Amino acid sequence: MLSKTMEDALNRQVNREFYSAYLYLAMSAYFESASLKGFAKWMRVQAREERTHGEKIYDYIIARGSKVTLGDIEAPKGKWTSAGKVFEDVFAHEQKVTAMIHNIVELATKEKDHASFDMLQWFVKEQVEEEANAGDILAQIKTVGDVPGHLFYLDHQLGKRE
Ligand code: FEO
Repeated sequence: MLSKTMEDALNRQVNREFYSAYLYLAMSAYFESASLKGFAKWMRVQAREERTHGEKIYDYIIARGSKVTLGDIEAPKGKWTSAGKVFEDVFAHEQKVTAMIHNIVELATKEKDHASFDMLQWFVKEQVEEEANAGDILAQIKTVGDVPGHLFYLDHQLGKRE
């Protein structure tokens, strides 16, 4: 069984992962409204991935015989002015998520909760990838120029994500 502190921390993280899904869905809707269908698809897939992150922690809480507590999901910001602004927010958001994951890893270490430490290593690695993906796309947007007409090729490439 998890300690109450660990149970609370993991439940909070479930909430943040579902918030991430909601945030990326809002970004997907923004790209739909900007007629950048490839970006919209990429965000839609990202939102789906975030839900699986939340469910992975949810399943783990249950596997440890502890209690899942689902709280309110914060409403994401729904307006952006350009693709670059969106990906600046993605990058900043993923850095925050990384810090949250690292805090829970530190808690697991402090509590000598080896199973949670082990489960969280998947997220530590995933966050490296999440930050790298956001950073790469942001750099590409800056290279081609952050205006819809210039983003056509990138939009086509991002639309290939399944
Ligand atoms: Fe689940 Fe993008 O962090």
